[in-house]
Amino acid sequence: MLQSECRLLRVLLGFICVLLMCMSAAPDLCGPLKTVRDSLNSTLRRRYMKMNFPINYTIQVHYEEVYRLRNISRLRNESLVELRDLQDLWVLVSQQGIKRILKVLPERHPTRRKYLSNLENLFRDFQVLYIQQNPRDEERELPESIQNICDKLRDPYYQGWKSVTPKSLLDNCYRSMLCLFKDCFSTEDDSYDYCEVLNRRKEKKTT
Ligand SMILES: *[C@@H]1O[C@H](CO)[C@@H](O)[C@H](O)[C@H]1NC(C)=O
Ligand SMILES: *[C@@H]1O[C@H](CO)[C@@H](O)[C@H](O)[C@H]1NC(C)=O
Ligand SMILES: *[C@@H]1O[C@H](CO)[C@@H](O)[C@H](O)[C@H]1NC(C)=O
Ligand SMILES: *[C@@H]1O[C@H](CO)[C@@H](O)[C@H](O)[C@H]1NC(C)=O
Repeated sequence: MLQSECRLLRVLLGFICVLLMCMSAAPDLCGPLKTVRDSLNSTLRRRYMKMNFPINYTIQVHYEEVYRLRNISRLRNESLVELRDLQDLWVLVSQQGIKRILKVLPERHPTRRKYLSNLENLFRDFQVLYIQQNPRDEERELPESIQNICDKLRDPYYQGWKSVTPKSLLDNCYRSMLCLFKDCFSTEDDSYDYCEVLNRRKEKKTT
C-alpha cells in the first residue's frame, strides 16, 4: 500500500518536473519586452528625455548607435541578414544608448533616479532571457554589414562623433523594437505596419 503510494508520488513528481522543464525551456520574451515598451511610452520619453534636459541638449554618439527603421529596411535588403541579426543589433545599440545618456547625468538627476536606471535594469532582464532563448550559433559567420557595425560600435578609437538628442535615441529604440519584435505587438493592431518608414510629419505625430 505504502509502496504504491510512493510510486504514485514519484510519478507525480516526475510529471511536475517535466512540466517545469517545458515551461522554463520556452520563457516568454514578450512579457519582459512589453514591460520595456510600457516604460518607453511617449509620455515617459517626453518627460524624462526632453523636459528634464536643457532645450536642444545633445550628446555625442557613434553613427552606428543611431538605429532607425530606415537602417532596418536597408539591412533587410541584404540576403544574408536574418531577423535575428537585426534583433541582436537592437539589444546592443539600445543598451549602449542608455549607457551614453547615463554617462552625462549627475548621480542625483531625476531622469537617472526615476527612469533610466530602472530602464537599464529592464533591458538587462530582457537580455538575459533573450540570450537564453536564442543561444548564439558560434559556427555561423555574421554577414559582413552586421559585423562591420558591431566592430564600429565596440571601437574604442572611434572617430567622427554624431550629436543627437537623448530623446531621439529612445524614440528610435522604441520604433525599432515594435518593428523587430512584431510578433509580440502586432495582435493589438494587426493593420498597422510597424516597420513602415514614415515621413517626417507623420513620424512626429506618433511620438
Ligand atoms: C505611459 O506610462 C505612464 C506610467 O505608467 C502612464 O501614466 C501614461 O499614461 C502612459 N502614457 C501613454 C501615452 O500610454
Ligand atoms: C533649438 O533648435 C531649434 C531647431 O534647430 C531652433 O530653431 C531653436 O532656436 C533652438 N532653441 C534654442 C533655445 O537654442
Ligand atoms: C543607420 O544609418 C545611418 C545613416 O545612413 C548611419 O550613419 C548609421 O551608421 C546606421 N546605423 C546602423 C546601426 O547601421
Ligand atoms: C530594397 O530593394 C528593393 C528591390 O531590390 C528596392 O526597390 C528598395 O528601394 C530597396 N530598399 C532599400 C531601403 O534599400
